[in-house]
Amino acid sequence: MRILVMGAGAVGSVLGGFLAKAGHDVTLLGRAWHLDVVRRQGLTITGLWGEHRVTTLAVATDPDEVERRPGFDWVLVCVKAYQTAEAATPLPDLLGSPASLVCAFQNGLGNYEALTQAVAPARVALGRVIFGADLEPGAVRVTVCADDVLVGAPDPRFPRERAVQLAAALQASGIPSRATASILIELWAKVLYNCALNGLSTLFEAPYGRLLEREPARRVMAAVIEEAYRVAAAHRIKLKPATAKAYRELLFTRLIPDTAAHQSSMLQDVRRGHPTEIESLNGAIVRLAQQAKLAVPANALVTRLVHAKEQFLGVVQK
Ligand SMILES: NC(=O)c1ccc[n+]([C@@H]2O[C@H](COP(=O)([O-])OP(=O)(O)OC[C@H]3O[C@@H](n4cnc5c(N)ncnc54)[C@H](OP(=O)(O)O)[C@@H]3O)[C@@H](O)[C@H]2O)c1
Repeated sequence: MRILVMGAGAVGSVLGGFLAKAGHDVTLLGRAWHLDVVRRQGLTITGLWGEHRVTTLAVATDPDEVERRPGFDWVLVCVKAYQTAEAATPLPDLLGSPASLVCAFQNGLGNYEALTQAVAPARVALGRVIFGADLEPGAVRVTVCADDVLVGAPDPRFPRERAVQLAAALQASGIPSRATASILIELWAKVLYNCALNGLSTLFEAPYGRLLEREPARRVMAAVIEEAYRVAAAHRIKLKPATAKAYRELLFTRLIPDTAAHQSSMLQDVRRGHPTEIESLNGAIVRLAQQAKLAVPANALVTRLVHAKEQFLGVVQK
C-alpha cells in the first residue's frame, strides 16, 4: 500500500515506521527537527516491539514536497487534536486518487468533524490507539500497550473491507491491531478515561493511582464521568458500559489499578511548553453540554484549571 502519515510525531512514526518495515511505501510528513534525522539515518524504533532501523521511508516537511502520484491508499492523520483542522486543509489535494482514504489515529472528540469538513465522511475512518510512544529526533520508543489498535469508520458508506485491510496490514507489520464495527463507542471509552484522569493528573502532578487514593479526587472523577454520560445520552451517543455507575466501578476497580503508576502525557505536554488536548476532552464535553442545555460544572472546572496551568507555565497556544 502507498501511505502518507500526516503529522509524523510519536504515534505517526510508530505506525509509519512499522508499515514501511513491512514493505509498504510510506511517506512521513512532519517537522524538520525529527525528519531531517530520519532522512539522513533512517528511523530508529525501540521499546516493547523490538529494535528496528527503517531506512525506506520517504520524508517531507511541507505538503508541497509530497510526491502525489500514484495516489495514496491511505493518509494516516496523527497530529494532536488541536491541530486537526489545520492538518485537514491540504488533505483533498494530498489524497491524490478517488480511492484514497483517511484514518485518524488521535485522542479526543471533534477530530472526525474537523476532517469531514475537508474530506467526504464516507472516506474517513478513525483509529483508537492505546499504546504509548515517546519521540526524540530520528527515534521513537514504544513504552506501553494496553490493547490492540482498533480501526473502524462511523459512516456506513465507508468501504469496510478497506478498514479490515488497514488493520490487517498494521497487525502483519508487528502492531497488535484489529478492525471494529463500533469505533465511536471505543473512542468514547478512551475519552471517558482521559476526561477522568488526564486533567487531574496534570493539575496535581500525580500518577493515576494517587488520584484514586484521595476521596476528593475520586469525587471529581465520578462527577466528570456522570456529566459525560448525561451529555452522551442527550446526544443519543451509545457508551460502553451503559451507565455512569458501571463505568465508575470499572474505572476505580480495574482501569486505574491497572495503570496506577501512569502519569498523564498531558503533564509532559505542559512541562514542555506545548498546549494540551483538554479542549477535545473535558472542553468537548462542555461544548456538547451547552448544545443540549445541560450544566457540567466538573468538566468546566477541570478545563478552566488546565488552561490556567498552561498559562502559568507559559504554554504558547498553537
Ligand atoms: N504519544 C502517545 O503515546 C499517544 C498514545 C495514544 C494516543 N495518542 C494520541 O495520538 C495523537 C498524536 O499524538 P502524538 O503523541 O503522536 O503527537 P506528536 O508527537 O505531537 O505528533 C504530531 C506531530 O505532527 C506535527 N504536526 C502538527 N501539525 C502538522 C502539520 N499540519 N503538518 C505536518 N506536521 C504537523 C507536530 O509538530 P508540532 O509539535 O511542531 O506541532 C508533531 O511533530 C494525539 O491525539 C494523542 O493524544 C498519543
